[in-house]
Amino acid sequence: MERLDKFIASQTGLSRTQVHEKLRVGAVRVNGAVERKKDRKIDPNNDAVCLDGEEISYRKFLYIMMNKPAGLVSASRDPKMKTVIDILPPEMKRKGLFPAGRLDRDTTGLLIITDDGDLAHRMLAPGKGVFKSYLAALDGPVGDREKEMFAKGIEIDGGELCLPAYLDIAEDGMSAVIRICEGKYHQVKRMFEAVGRRVVALKRLSIGALPLDESLGEGECRLLDESERDRLLTN
Ligand code: URA
Repeated sequence: MERLDKFIASQTGLSRTQVHEKLRVGAVRVNGAVERKKDRKIDPNNDAVCLDGEEISYRKFLYIMMNKPAGLVSASRDPKMKTVIDILPPEMKRKGLFPAGRLDRDTTGLLIITDDGDLAHRMLAPGKGVFKSYLAALDGPVGDREKEMFAKGIEIDGGELCLPAYLDIAEDGMSAVIRICEGKYHQVKRMFEAVGRRVVALKRLSIGALPLDESLGEGECRLLDESERDRLLTN
């Protein structure tokens, strides 16, 4: 059982104060009857809660796919810079959302924003073996030598050893899709640096078996359904 005001706030992104106003003006119905009591207890799985005439469909967790634009930080909040959470549409905003698997400020592409910590762990922990793929544009060509080095597991600066990673190199060698199953700090950039190349642009294309929905423009996002969510955990 959950307090009505808390439930509505968590599902809609409205602040508690806004929810209280909705309750005060009679915009909330529980099982068809107007409800004004903010501390009314409801069962999210069985009670039908309507706000402004529309039923709130209960989602325990949210899974949001964003096509991250460059220039935003992958954090829940930042004292100075705009974050990926700041650009979520109001209807997707909820307490507890965080970017699962950070992208650098200048990196674009697939970012998952969720409030499901357990899923994030299963998606990100290197031991779980979920591969993420990135398209890296480079300042010079790479070839079979780099491909073999990456597949063996290269050492990056500071002596950190990377797990095997796989390269699919463009014909001119100037870009490659790289697949890695871990997320060390600046990992892709540091891996290419270790073989003498600089990444000039980086975009995440997929996580597990879920590709970026290319119909999303940069900065746009949409909710995932359950089968898409599950594809985040399988290669
Ligand atoms: N590797 C990087 O270097 N940067 C990212 O944003 C993601 C992976």
